[in-house]
Amino acid sequence: MPRRNKIALIGAGNIGGELAALAAREHLGDVVLFDIPDKEGLAKGKALDLEQNGSILGYDAKITGTSSWDDCAGADVVIVTAGVPRKPGMSRDDLLSINLKIIRNVAENIKAKCPEAFVIVISNPLDAMVYELKKLSGLPKSRVVGMAGVLDSARMQLFLAREVGVSVRDVRAMVLGGHGDTMVPVTSYCTVNGVPLEQLISKERLDAIVTRTAGGGGEIVKLMGTSAYYAPASAAIAMARSYLNDEKRLLPCAAYCEGEYGYKDLYIGVPCIIGAKGVEKIVDIELSAEEKGMLEKSAAAVRELLEASKKL
Ligand code: APR
Repeated sequence: MPRRNKIALIGAGNIGGELAALAAREHLGDVVLFDIPDKEGLAKGKALDLEQNGSILGYDAKITGTSSWDDCAGADVVIVTAGVPRKPGMSRDDLLSINLKIIRNVAENIKAKCPEAFVIVISNPLDAMVYELKKLSGLPKSRVVGMAGVLDSARMQLFLAREVGVSVRDVRAMVLGGHGDTMVPVTSYCTVNGVPLEQLISKERLDAIVTRTAGGGGEIVKLMGTSAYYAPASAAIAMARSYLNDEKRLLPCAAYCEGEYGYKDLYIGVPCIIGAKGVEKIVDIELSAEEKGMLEKSAAAVRELLEASKKL
């Protein structure tokens, strides 16, 4: 008997709610919105609201709110947003000590209840959280991945589209490296429908966009007092869809490197092919000397974060 996919969302806050809405609208499967017992009402309320939304929008997904891990058992995809978001003035790294405890608890439960799932981590600081989750859950590296690059690239694509005066659909950009101030916008591969960017934009304007991209999350935190949720949710859903439908999209994701790009035992943003086997391949692309240098700096920042995690 064919059955619907099951998508467990760990954290029913701002991103969790938007993830549930998108998963239902895109008919990806049934959705379980999980949160801590204190927030069970929130999870159940959002689930009911979203099921009612289905009778207007025309989807039949079953959406369940819960604080019991048993309801997440056997999920095909798990997306983790559990943790606290940034407040104005905070860096993602400032969240480390609080969110590390939360992610450790989540990892143990994934190990026990969802060992076959494809797991996408969104909680920040992303590169340290996804590393910890893989380590403690014992899941293979192909099935634990972090969402950052799709979002950072989307931000850059928007800024470029507005600058050049073209549709966002025609702009391709790729942002690699850690999900922090040291992220690496790979400008040498940016194009507008295949046209290299340097033919359309001055170096000065491009540099300004690179800077705005790296601070793109912080810009939103400053405006609304908490972190973004619409675009982060869409980015993770694009990754989940590529896995569930075996789309084999080439997406920048935080993936576990064992020699790729010269990195070992490290999660960092690299171009990945996401298909039915999860992260099927990390694609080694040629980088300019400047980009390599930036990636090296970014990897050093991620390693520093991992060292700090080990002490907590
Ligand atoms: N298990 C499950 N959920 C948890 C746990 C836990 N152990 N601990 C906290 N949560 C829940 C919170 O109760 C809250 O409802 O995680 C939810 C987080 O939701 P928000 O506070 O709205 O945060 P959100 O904007 O969704 O961001 C979540 O993603 O992008 C990152 O930096 C962001 O780390 C943050 C995370």
